[in-house]
Amino acid sequence: MMGNSMAVEIRNLCKSFKQNEVLKDLDLSVPKGKIFALLGQNGAGKTTMVKILSTLLKFDSGHINVLSHELPKQSDSVRSKISMTGQYVALDEDLTGEQNLILIARLSGYNSIQAKGRTKELLEMFDLSDAGKKTVKTYSGGMHRRLDIAAGIIKTPELLFLDEPTTGLDPRSRSVVWDFVRGLAHNGTTIFLTTQYLEEADRLADLIAVIEGGKIVAKGTPTELKSLVGRKTVSIRFKDTAERESAKKLVSKSFPNKSVTEHESDLFSIEISDISQANSILNGLADASIEPVEYSISQASLDEVFLTFTGGKTNE
Ligand SMILES: Nc1ncnc2c1ncn2[C@@H]1O[C@H](COP(=O)(O)OP(=O)(O)OP(=O)(O)O)[C@@H](O)[C@H]1O
Ligand SMILES: [Mg+2]
Repeated sequence: MMGNSMAVEIRNLCKSFKQNEVLKDLDLSVPKGKIFALLGQNGAGKTTMVKILSTLLKFDSGHINVLSHELPKQSDSVRSKISMTGQYVALDEDLTGEQNLILIARLSGYNSIQAKGRTKELLEMFDLSDAGKKTVKTYSGGMHRRLDIAAGIIKTPELLFLDEPTTGLDPRSRSVVWDFVRGLAHNGTTIFLTTQYLEEADRLADLIAVIEGGKIVAKGTPTELKSLVGRKTVSIRFKDTAERESAKKLVSKSFPNKSVTEHESDLFSIEISDISQANSILNGLADASIEPVEYSISQASLDEVFLTFTGGKTNE
């Protein structure tokens, strides 16, 4: 069961706060070396889960294996291999960013030269080279968050937990964090992040799980999740309304079970189950000498996935 290719294996996990059952018999596994995103709404239990996996919080029952160590028995071994941003490090607001990182590096066992080298590297990676000379209390929220993440990875962990790493960040800081996450994963670190942003999960994650009602309600690659929900749609544009109407008649005849939706004056769209159906629609039109001006095939968005699996509520 607990294969070595898995960074995290969870079976039958239960966790309540008094009467509030937050995680209900939850199962989840996360393969090593991947970027995994746990997606859920406010209060879904994301932070609770990350805290349990990073040994900061006790759980009521179930089996948890992190990097082949069992929790809670082998918490110390787990702790030596993982990092969680913002939890293990306390930044000193009166020191500069650079001083903070050097201090933490020295505490982690680096000698003075190594500590300076690693600090320089991290400040560059997080676009903080200039800010590094200023005291932390003068930092903006985004700079603070980036320094926080940098401090958490002074030593490259095997598994990094990031709880909503980009919430509240501007687009530039967000893309700095994304690049850093990709780089770390490229070098073999498993990333377990939580997010409320569909776009973030879609752009960054290899694997996504949606948490809702204390359970994982959907899991897969972004593409798999999208294909689970909506079907693909082919949209076809014609030179004018008359041509569109002729085309519509023809398509309705060949595909009586499909509904054709009109848009604007010269466009319609049809749901298809696979690409070959789009081909046969286009071929049918060509046989009748109807030439589309343009066409496109689109997939369901991750928004639709989220809406479907969380019962139609969103935070926005
Ligand atoms: N220490 C605690 N004591 C009591 N209840 C708690 C505690 N921590 C979390 N909860 C409750 O557990 C539930 C899940 O909270 P959690 O913080 O894990 O959600 P989340 O998915 O991280 O939400 P957010 O997106 O807002 O960060 C919520 O109902 C919350 O009120
Ligand atoms: Mg949270």
